[in-house]
Amino acid sequence: MGLFSKDIATMDDLFVHTLRDVYYAEKKIVKSLPEMIDEATDPQLKQAFSSHLKETENHVARLEEVFRMHGVDAKAVDCPAIDGIIEEAEDVTGEVDDKKVLDAALIAAAQAVEHYEITRYGTLVAWAKQLGRNDCASILERTLKEEKAADEKLNALAESYVNRRAA
Ligand SMILES: [Fe+2]
Ligand SMILES: [Fe+2]
Repeated sequence: MGLFSKDIATMDDLFVHTLRDVYYAEKKIVKSLPEMIDEATDPQLKQAFSSHLKETENHVARLEEVFRMHGVDAKAVDCPAIDGIIEEAEDVTGEVDDKKVLDAALIAAAQAVEHYEITRYGTLVAWAKQLGRNDCASILERTLKEEKAADEKLNALAESYVNRRAA
């Protein structure tokens, strides 16, 4: 299905398409985080990635719940945006030798991922409400809160020591 093809005729179609886009993204993040946990040196950063991996597995399950509630198949559609963010992150981290600099690069990459998720879930919550699906909106909102909290945790880590030590 093309992004701007006629397959998306209504707000409901657009909502379902975007759910499937973020479903693809969440599944991709579940696959990518273990590598980031391995690469991170700082124990607090490793811990932050590990706990967000558990949350991310839950995000996948919540999306499946929203698909079920909305009466559509839990299907993923390609999301070139998340593929690009992760590909760029792998390129950059592959170029870094210094462990402290690598931690800073991993944080920056992870924050790009979180910001992508935040924009998608923000949109999905608004559209769910617009479509009269407050039940779906409240589930999506729980995930949105966790994405924002993950981003803030990474901010705090970056500001408190990781970037300073890399300087
Ligand atoms: Fe997520
Ligand atoms: Fe996330």
